[in-house]
Amino acid sequence: MENRLNDLNGSQWLYWTNSIYETNFPPDQTFPRRKAHGAMKPPELMAEIITFFTKAGEVILDPFAGVGGTLLGAELTGRRAVGIELNPEWVRVYQELRQDFRAFGGAFVPAANPEGGRLLGAELILGDCLAVMRRFPDESFAAIITDPPYGCHHRINGFKEETNFSMFSINAADFGNSESYQDYLEKIRVFGNEALRILQPKRYLVLLIGDRFHRGEYLPLGTMVAETLRNIGFRWKGIRIWWNKATQRPLKPYAVKSCFVPNITHQNIIILRKES
Ligand SMILES: C[S@@+](CC[C@H](N)C(=O)[O-])C[C@H]1O[C@@H](n2cnc3c(N)ncnc32)[C@H](O)[C@@H]1O
Repeated sequence: MENRLNDLNGSQWLYWTNSIYETNFPPDQTFPRRKAHGAMKPPELMAEIITFFTKAGEVILDPFAGVGGTLLGAELTGRRAVGIELNPEWVRVYQELRQDFRAFGGAFVPAANPEGGRLLGAELILGDCLAVMRRFPDESFAAIITDPPYGCHHRINGFKEETNFSMFSINAADFGNSESYQDYLEKIRVFGNEALRILQPKRYLVLLIGDRFHRGEYLPLGTMVAETLRNIGFRWKGIRIWWNKATQRPLKPYAVKSCFVPNITHQNIIILRKES
């Protein structure tokens, strides 16, 4: 039977449908440069996602590209990729990686590698994805695979109210600087409309989103984002709960013997499809 989505065989496909997804990738050679970002994703993880949702040679977009986890993942899988990133510092880090590393034998090696290697081809555009995405023609991409900021920033008043890591930037266009979760979800809605337009029919938008613990309450942000995108026409196909064993820290003793506060150690991989 013809495989309409990817280049996997049946067993590989089946394995990838498990809703629990544990990974334990060792740091690759580009990690010491990328770690300044703080929310970067392993290229090997992104490569697995890309391998499921595209065929070799297809083009993917990451509109919240950071220091290029998805772009590097595309290099490992023989896909082409375009990224967009608002923060010039992260674009600078990625451009340096492009200068200093090559893809070779399914990994990254220094550019001076005596055995050679392939130049990193994926382009990273500096800008606000809401503006840059408008420049792409309809149905430009075979997949949109991305990792947006997880909700808005807020003052951390203590563990009973907020347990999540927050990143700050000074740019008002940063989704992470939204005034409220309502404002954040509105931005996700605008982003989703543009994603729907530039994605090819029957293809996937895949988002990594962490849930939050906010003002003493669990906020299922992954579900809220999925629901927002569902309401504008995406079909919600599934979720994988990603547990990154490599970065697990000891559990924090939030409110022990007082009240239940979760240690949120997983992230959601939300899988949506453009149906027509
Ligand atoms: C969770 S990080 C992505 C990290 C990335 N997956 C990596 O491996 O480096 C989210 C990124 O979205 C960027 N961002 C936030 N708002 C944006 C916008 N409006 N347009 C483009 N990028 C934006 C942030 O600067 C941040 O680097």
